[in-house]
Amino acid sequence: MSKILIATEKPFSPDAVGGIKDILQFAGYEVKLLESYTEKAQLLEAVADAAALIVRSDKIDDEVMAAAPELKIIVRAGAGYDNIDLTAATQRHIVVMNTPGQNANAVAELVIGLLIFTIRNRFNGTSGTELKGKKLGLLAFGAVAQNLARIAHGFGMDISSHSPLDNPQSIIDAGYHVVESTRALFEDNHIVSLHVPSTPTTRRSIGYDLIHSMRKGAILVNTARQDIIDEEGLLRAMTERTDLRYVSDLKLEAHDKAVELLGDRYIFTPKKMGAQTKEANVNAGLAAAKQIVAFLKDGVKTFQVNK
Ligand code: 3PG
Repeated sequence: MSKILIATEKPFSPDAVGGIKDILQFAGYEVKLLESYTEKAQLLEAVADAAALIVRSDKIDDEVMAAAPELKIIVRAGAGYDNIDLTAATQRHIVVMNTPGQNANAVAELVIGLLIFTIRNRFNGTSGTELKGKKLGLLAFGAVAQNLARIAHGFGMDISSHSPLDNPQSIIDAGYHVVESTRALFEDNHIVSLHVPSTPTTRRSIGYDLIHSMRKGAILVNTARQDIIDEEGLLRAMTERTDLRYVSDLKLEAHDKAVELLGDRYIFTPKKMGAQTKEANVNAGLAAAKQIVAFLKDGVKTFQVNK
């Protein structure tokens, strides 16, 4: 009987684990669960007899794949797959998939939650501000940005997007303004929210010039990836511009330095929380399980990302 491993350093909700197991066991597979592991060695051992692997942001490099001679498919239950070495997977004839859109609403809701916490001054009793009437600029217009726009529209925000990756027509069709450049997006909005994936082009692409150009009192929100920020540039710009705030679901590598330099203007979650809801876990986890069954039984490769 083929074995499927769920390996999640940051566990899914129990409902999601139960649902994934039901789908896979009903299809005739044995399910192994490795949660909250702290050492790579635990993953290397667990993956040894797995034909399929479900992960979240767990780092899956060539060493992990080499330790899994039976592995045919890896599904990243989520959107971003920068944690998986696609070149190694392709060389080893392992199919890699993601589950796009499944956890997007959860991330979008977190952005709103973090923003309200921020503009109400961390609920410290002083007078804050409101989202209504503020300009929200979205860098990229994928599933998270689209959900965020939908919610922000309900708050009465003025929404625009610059999408270096997608056809701007999707922004127009959704009824929002198209911004022609990243620079204009940063200059014009009260709040800029980042929704680009981590790629060689986007890594360290948000730095001093863009951040320093933000309008007075602006807020930069990052629920995408830590490495799209040029941290030195961010810290320099925010040291000079003491009116700016940085809100993030991804702690900076220079976290301690940022806390020291920026104080309350650096708002962060203790652990990456964007997709951490029961609903998002169920959506992404069950989609991953179904994709594995469809692939192993019928060779279906929808959502393959290493083509
Ligand atoms: C994603 O890419 O889907 C999100 O960043 C969520 O990541 P997580 O599953 O590690 O919470």
